[in-house]
Amino acid sequence: MQLDLNGITPKQFLEQYWQKKPLVIRQGFKNFKDLLSAEEMAGLACDEMVESRRVFKANDEWQAEFGPFESYEELGEQDWTLIVQALNNWVPEAEALIQCFDFIPRWRLDDVMVSYATPGGGVGPHIDLYDVFICQGSGRRRWRVGDLGPHKEFAAHPALLHTEAFDPIIDVELLPGDILYLPPGFPHDGVTIEPSMSFSVGYRTASAKDMVSAMADHIIDNDLCNEQIADPDRVISEYSGVVDNTDLERIKQQLFATLDDKLVSEFSGRYLTQSKCELDLPEQPLGFQSLDVTEQIKLQPLIKLGGLRCLYFETSVADGVLYINGEQQQLTAGNEAFIAMLCDTQQLTSADLTPWLDNSQVIEQLTDWVNAGYWYFDDID
Ligand code: SIN
Ligand code: CO
Repeated sequence: MQLDLNGITPKQFLEQYWQKKPLVIRQGFKNFKDLLSAEEMAGLACDEMVESRRVFKANDEWQAEFGPFESYEELGEQDWTLIVQALNNWVPEAEALIQCFDFIPRWRLDDVMVSYATPGGGVGPHIDLYDVFICQGSGRRRWRVGDLGPHKEFAAHPALLHTEAFDPIIDVELLPGDILYLPPGFPHDGVTIEPSMSFSVGYRTASAKDMVSAMADHIIDNDLCNEQIADPDRVISEYSGVVDNTDLERIKQQLFATLDDKLVSEFSGRYLTQSKCELDLPEQPLGFQSLDVTEQIKLQPLIKLGGLRCLYFETSVADGVLYINGEQQQLTAGNEAFIAMLCDTQQLTSADLTPWLDNSQVIEQLTDWVNAGYWYFDDID
């Protein structure tokens, strides 16, 4: 699968559109094939591990239901949409689609969402907080996109936040292989013209509020940042009721000083690798020994589990630090090339691992991750 941004480079895309304005990319994918069939998707939405919802109108009122679903018969032939979140956690083919957008780092990725809609189906006009590449698969869908602005939002249903009618700045019909890029904040409304599948590669960051709040929990849990705000350089105070600008600056500086690279990376490494949706992990640790891994890798690659989040920081990778699925992991210093390979690529081959085969710490650690289900061999009886 190859992405063609219609004559602009990824660099130009980032400079001109990313987080700034919407873009319609005609035939971004040549001969685009759906990542799964509608039947397979309906099957996934019957699984309680999978996050799914369907949206439709009944008696002119918006309705939303959450899966797992048992049957679809009552829905009829039109005016409904079925959505499955985190398709990449369940369908390995979704990985190829994500890789097309790897000019944006994985820590920014949220998930691949798939939407199947019958004619007239859609989720209604709304605003999202995230960037998304809506990749049209089979079928046709009309998208209207409005400009940024003070759009009033309201709950059309307890689970559906809609926005009022807007003047479109984009009004297009997407055909298979076309892509609509939307930054956060632009109201949009997609209505299906003929039975349609679309695959949305979504990117999301956290709000400062959520991160500060989670960081406070991290500080408390780990008993960090116990330094008192200090003022040994205090001068005479003229007004006893005031916090003057020098004092405000001192408080700010001392608070900011606690937010050093170590604290922010150790907190956000854990925070950013937490998975929002279920991962397809084994219930019990698997029973691989190091030797099994080094033997198997000669026969087949080790594949990173779909949806597994792992990352390293430029500032601490040389110390052997990486983050996987919400946890900090520590290898000995000097393993940065291994860590980078682990996090930057989606599968490891025998050739990739060759330089580390004699490094027992690395191989034992990797074996632990294989036993946890974070990396897997596809073909194991
Ligand atoms: C959909 O694909 O059905 C909805 C996607 C969106 O507008 O966010
Ligand atoms: Co949307």
